[in-house]
Amino acid sequence: MKFFWLFTATVLRASLTVARPSSPVSHFFTWKPPGPNDVVRGPCPMLNTLANHGFLPHSGQNITEEDTVSALYTALNVNQSLGVFLFHHAITTNPAPNATNFSLYDLRRHNILEHDASLSRGDYYFGNDYSFNQTIFKETRSYWTAPIIDVEMAAKARLARVHTSNATNPTFTLTKTGRKFSFGETAAYMIALGDRATGTVRRAWVEYLFENERLPLELGWSRRKKTITQHDLVDMLRKVVNATGSSSEDASLMIRGGGFHAGL
Ligand code: HEM
Repeated sequence: MKFFWLFTATVLRASLTVARPSSPVSHFFTWKPPGPNDVVRGPCPMLNTLANHGFLPHSGQNITEEDTVSALYTALNVNQSLGVFLFHHAITTNPAPNATNFSLYDLRRHNILEHDASLSRGDYYFGNDYSFNQTIFKETRSYWTAPIIDVEMAAKARLARVHTSNATNPTFTLTKTGRKFSFGETAAYMIALGDRATGTVRRAWVEYLFENERLPLELGWSRRKKTITQHDLVDMLRKVVNATGSSSEDASLMIRGGGFHAGL
């Protein structure tokens, strides 16, 4: 009998721990779009998503290193050093001197991290570089021609956006950082949602993330079992670069960007 009560108490405590509303695990099952007191979201579909779920502050403001590392790890299994690396990029967008936090709003500042030729956002020149834009995303999606996106499709979609922006935006630029981020973002959705070994990802999951700013749990996605490292990101980024080839992108960027030199 004593054993029974001990067992029951242990099981109860364990289940309460899992079900605790503030438990990070529960954020997978909480999702709320930004409300009137929240920062309107920024140009990163994943950080918007993490704020909508509550992995990051729902307000989208005062995001610290601890918030970033913990959210990326708990939601996506991104390791600490990659989390810290990304956070250090993020705070460069906060105009306050010696900033120790950033907001989703800060991320939209043009040509710091935010760049032209996004997959789902318009260029700064056209007035809104941070909101989801269905017309832009339609072009990107048109290159994802099968239910499973592979590296070639992903690379073609990214490059098409570069060509379209270059042809339509008279102020088109892609700085060295912008270019790295552009390749990195394609690599990021492949890794965070897909299979990094085969370089593939379910199209439906990627579309769901972009369109709903919500993790595609209801479509069967789950947090990747293998920890995501900076090595994984660089490896996938290189695959996307290689699949892009030495295309006309560099040439056109040289013309518009005035001596752009690719470096990864
Ligand atoms: C602290 C971490 C992160 C920061 C600071 C960050 C920042 C940004 C910024 C500034 C952009 C806008 C670039 C543009 O102009 O298109 C962006 C886009 C993007 N980010 Fe993040 N990001 C982070 C983490 C992630 C993660 C973990 C993923 C994983 C899927 C991700 C996926 C994307 C994608 C797919 C885009 C491209 C959106 C588009 O082109 O329309 N990001 N991110």
